[in-house]
Order: sequence, then structure tokens, then C-alpha cells
Amino acid sequence: MDVGDRTAPAGSVVGGMSQPAVLIVDDEEDVRNLVSYAFSRRGYRVDTSVDGAQALEAVHLAPPDLVITDVLMPRMTGLELAEQLRGDDRTKHIPILMLSARDQVEDVLAGYERGADEYITKPIELALLVAKAEALLRRSARDREGVATPGPSATVVAFARAKGGVGASTLAVATAVLAAGQGRRTCLFDLDTATHSAAEILGADARGAADHAVPDPVAGDLFDRLVVSTPPGVDVLVTGRGVGSAGGLRVDLALGALQRLRQKYELLVLDLPLTLESWMNPLVEASSRVCLVTGPQVTSLAALAGHTHALAGLPGAMGRTLVVLNHVVDSPAGPAEIARQLGRAPDVEIPNSDLLLRLGSLGWSAMADEWGELASQLGPALGAVVGSPRTASVAL
Ligand SMILES: Nc1ncnc2c1ncn2[C@@H]1O[C@H](COP(=O)(O)OP(=O)(O)OP(=O)(O)O)[C@@H](O)[C@H]1O
Ligand SMILES: [Mg+2]
Repeated sequence: MDVGDRTAPAGSVVGGMSQPAVLIVDDEEDVRNLVSYAFSRRGYRVDTSVDGAQALEAVHLAPPDLVITDVLMPRMTGLELAEQLRGDDRTKHIPILMLSARDQVEDVLAGYERGADEYITKPIELALLVAKAEALLRRSARDREGVATPGPSATVVAFARAKGGVGASTLAVATAVLAAGQGRRTCLFDLDTATHSAAEILGADARGAADHAVPDPVAGDLFDRLVVSTPPGVDVLVTGRGVGSAGGLRVDLALGALQRLRQKYELLVLDLPLTLESWMNPLVEASSRVCLVTGPQVTSLAALAGHTHALAGLPGAMGRTLVVLNHVVDSPAGPAEIARQLGRAPDVEIPNSDLLLRLGSLGWSAMADEWGELASQLGPALGAVVGSPRTASVAL
């Protein structure tokens, strides 16, 4: 067994964890060396194995905090290794990140069932590999804390819109990333099966989850495994096929999922499907805040006006509902005209923003470097979205 660099130079290790141990399993020496180098220089303890069988021995000798494994290897494949680790009480909690060639992606998706938590395709983008590994380590550290202490009861913030393309998913993601950046344990529950765009903006792979028609909270471990971590520190649960339309959504299961997530997170952000319909009322009622997002166009203002009226009928809805005017396009309509169309003034306004445009159209990873700038521009407005209703009006 090759032993990588065990010295720990000043590096960036996951907050609160001292020198996590990573086991790298690959039959190609070049890959082992490259990946070992990336982790050891960041202060991780690194160990390597040449195939699944050797890795299994290494894990039993000294369980690592994370296993990064190739798929196709002699003697024992990465899939078999994952299955063995998951089948053993001593090792089933260890997160597993798979490395696969692009044409093995289908295998890896099948591999989720056998225990993989994440995968990354070769050729390896080292920065992405490290980011995914760190997200997995954070999540597993949080899960361990969660076992020791009774979980929090998350604040639930739902994003809804009456018309598509008004930036609801983008704002849901921005809100979640902002909260996670402030150290709040945050999960985004993507209920919009038509697009899965919130999950995609975050870089969460929605395909694995989409095979599970319903995120059945009773399924315990399986349910927990459907919650994936993403590089900005937000966990994501994606509803599967057949979920999200009035006919297909098992509202009881979605609610059960929501209750289970509430125990593990401090903030739960829901991206609701188009359009707000009465079957969603239980989800709306379970939310501490409902953000009704509209653009400045007359069509989306008029569509939303109808919904605010319908929502007013739900118990306690008015105190929890925020009308968010998102200037997704520049519009000649002034505030008075907008208030007239809406039947009221908006509670929060989000300005037209090139950074939000980039976030929503390119995804978080494409603008991660500019995140700080977006957070300082929009932090107050988005903070108001999760804050108390009384302080919600923000002048921009
Ligand atoms: N304030 C903003 N300024 C500029 N562009 C924005 C703003 N907010 C969102 N966008 C852009 O608007 C587009 C639509 O956003 P998004 O997909 O979040 O909308 P949605 O309401 O969730 O739509 P859908 O019905 O497709 O789910 C995206 O390209 C996004 O980047
Ligand atoms: Mg959307």
C-alpha cells in the first residue's frame, strides 16, 4: 500500500475537523499521485490503495473519514467496495465519492443504490473534486452531530410563483447559499420536477433521485442518501418523477419528507412547482414564510395578484406571505403602476442583477468566485426574505 504525504502543511481543512483522513483507491498510479497530492497539500491525511480488496483491508485497519474510489479496478471494483462498506455497521457511515470515466456514468448512477454518495467524471477537475469531498465531509460531520443532539426544527421558507421565468429558483438558491455561508445548516427541497432548476443551479445531480418516484421519508437510510451535498454547503433533496403535479404528488409523503428534514436543518428552502394550486396548501401551511415571486411585467404581476388573493384564505397566511418583486427584466413600469397591477405594494424588491442572471443561467460553480460580491449586494434583501415579516420591507 502506498502511503501518501502524512505531513500536514498549513492548508484548508473542513472547519472544525482536524486533519480528516482520505483513502484514495485507484489502479492507476498517476491518478493516485495526483489526487493524493491535492488532498495532502490541503492538510488531509492521505492513504492509497490499488483496488477495492486492498482498500477494504485498509478501511478495517484504520477507518478513513472519506473514501474516493475509481469504478473499474482488478480484483474488486469500486461498486463492490461501496456495497461492502455499506453492508458493514462499522463502515456504513463513511462517505464514498466515485471517480468514473464519462462512459461509466450509467454504472455510477446504478452505483448510488449500492452506496456511492457522489461521483465525479474523469478527467478529474481537482478543484471540483476537493470541493465535493469537503461538502461530503461537512455533511457527514453534521450527521454525526445530529445523532448526538436532538435536531433543530428548521425555519421553512417556500418560493412560489404564478408565472415561470421570474427568478424564483434563482432566489431560492441565493437565499440558501447565503444562509449556508452564514453557518446555518441549510437544505433546499426542490419540488419543481418540471425543471429541477434549483438543484441544477447548485450542481446537484438530480438524475439519481429522479428514479425514486417519491422521497419516502419512511425509507430511513435511503431517504437520507437521496439528500445530496453541494459545493456551496447547501444540501439538496430533489423530488422524483411523477412528483410535483396535482395528480402525481403524494402530498402526505412530501410533508413527511419536510418534517424529517426539519429535524436535521436550521433552514429549509422549498422551490415549489408552477403554479400555486390548492393541493400545495399543506406545504404552504407548513412554511414559516412564503415568498411569492413576480417579475415587473404586467403578465406576471396580474398572475400573482390572483394568487395573493387565494392565499389570503389560508389560516395565518397573510403574516407569512411576502411579495417579492424581482426585476428579472428592466421594465418601464413605475412603482405606482406595479402596485396597481399587483393590488398592493411589493414587500421586497430585488434589482436587476447581472450576478443573479449568471447564477440562474450558468449555475453556482460558474460564478462561485463572484459569490462574495453577490452576497454583499443582495444580502440585506435576501436576509429579509428569511427574517421576520415585520422587518421585511427593504428599500434598495
Ligand atoms: N434579478 C435578476 N436580474 C437578472 N436576471 C435574473 C434575476 N433573477 C433571475 N434572473 C434570471 O432569470 C432567469 C429565470 O430564473 P429562474 O429559472 O430562477 O426562474 P423561475 O421563476 O424559477 O422559472 P421556471 O418557471 O423556469 O422555474 C434565469 O436566467 C436567471 O438567471
Ligand atoms: Mg424555477
